[in-house]
Amino acid sequence: FGQVIYSFEDVDSTQRVAAKLAHEGAPEGTLVVAEEQKAGRGRLDRKWFSPKGTGIWMSLILRPPIPPQQAPQLTLLAAVAISQAIQEVTGLVPDIKWPNDILLGGKKCVGILTELQADPDRVHSVIIGIGINVNQTSEQFPEDIRAIATSLAIEKGKPIKRARLIQDILFRLERLYRQYLTHGFRPIKLLWEGYAVSIGKPVTARTLGGVMRGIARGITDDGLLILEDEQNTIHYIHSADIQL
Ligand code: BTN
Repeated sequence: FGQVIYSFEDVDSTQRVAAKLAHEGAPEGTLVVAEEQKAGRGRLDRKWFSPKGTGIWMSLILRPPIPPQQAPQLTLLAAVAISQAIQEVTGLVPDIKWPNDILLGGKKCVGILTELQADPDRVHSVIIGIGINVNQTSEQFPEDIRAIATSLAIEKGKPIKRARLIQDILFRLERLYRQYLTHGFRPIKLLWEGYAVSIGKPVTARTLGGVMRGIARGITDDGLLILEDEQNTIHYIHSADIQL
């Protein structure tokens, strides 16, 4: 991955640029990175704060031969690759909060946004958007997220080389992806569960349909969250915000 890299000083969103390139036929492994995003996008229509020079803002194009309902597996795969790379480069051990937040010291340092171009039976492309707070100081975060966000440098106590981290992430992403295509999601799921904080714990899930409380029991082979409520009913959650 990263054989072809489109690199920008600033861009509205690497996610939008990558989607356009994918639509025009860019090959698997094409990467779009930017020093700054003017309109970085998060999950659930949120903004993603992407200031100049301090973070990693990038989007990767994949073309997996899978049906669309399996695409969430790739978000979990990316979370594993990024967690491994953070561990390798900083020595810190991150937690993953389902589906795709990576935390250090209980605060979010990475967000992943997966978007699809697909027919009902076939995926044309998956755009994996990765935002990593690398070298921000805590004063550099907007006040409304300061209590819940962190950067690798804050946690490590010194600046981290972004290029090395990007290289390590791409290497691990590609290796896990090949493993996924030959051996399926099982091995990835085991790795993911090794980093997961929420499993076995009481959580609150905010979905489009409302708020649900229960114990997170694990994830399905498709990457859905398994939640057991107070009546011991099992729910399978596609998309939600989880609070521990
Ligand atoms: C989340 O809400 O946690 C996901 C955040 C994803 C942010 C990344 S930064 C690179 C890519 N471009 C965007 O506009 N968003 C993603």
